Amino acid sequence: MATTKLGVLISGRGSNMQAIVRACRAGRVPGEVALVVSNKASAPGLAWAAENGIPTCVLPHRDYASRKEHDAAVVSALRRAGVEWVCLAGYMRLLSPSFLAAFEQRVLNIHPSLLPAFPGLDAQRQAWEYGVRISGCTVHFVDRELDHGPIVVQRSVRVEDGDTADSLAARILSQEHEAYPDALHLLLTQPWRIENRRVVVLAGWQH
Ligand code: GRF
Repeated sequence: MATTKLGVLISGRGSNMQAIVRACRAGRVPGEVALVVSNKASAPGLAWAAENGIPTCVLPHRDYASRKEHDAAVVSALRRAGVEWVCLAGYMRLLSPSFLAAFEQRVLNIHPSLLPAFPGLDAQRQAWEYGVRISGCTVHFVDRELDHGPIVVQRSVRVEDGDTADSLAARILSQEHEAYPDALHLLLTQPWRIENRRVVVLAGWQH
């Protein structure tokens, strides 16, 4: 199977990036992480990527006059690396319409709640404070609205009586590390299209 070049955008820890790299290297995802981009030089995930032989690139957003200019620089770096799909993994920036147009229907994000519940920052704490009994994570296409595009994969996590926001977040995170590879596997191994916000697989693939 052909290998798809992935670009992963991070701003911090990069554990989802690591999960994607491992899934590619294990053959679970027919892809290869061709570039990790961070808008923060201090992102711990950068060191891990470099130690693991993955090209990295730091493009601090403060070096650019506008979101559009920063995004143009990120798109150029991704293009130079031959990237076909973009995975946001803890990337703490909204993308401009021009970025989305450059990778139309090829930008994914992971969010630590069952969207459309609890979009935005600190979703695990939002869910815990609200008192839901089930939360989880969502891998979705990125569109112009925050945490909003068509859903590819969701995984649920039960909220236990003794949970804190942090313990819940930790269990959600381990599901994130399964969900992102699952979503990439689905999208890269089967023909699909988006119909009424649904990712419809055309060749009988079973979840
Ligand atoms: C994850 O919880 C992800 O869902 C959210 O940001 C966090 C990033 O964690 N978008 P990591 O950098 O992948 O470890």
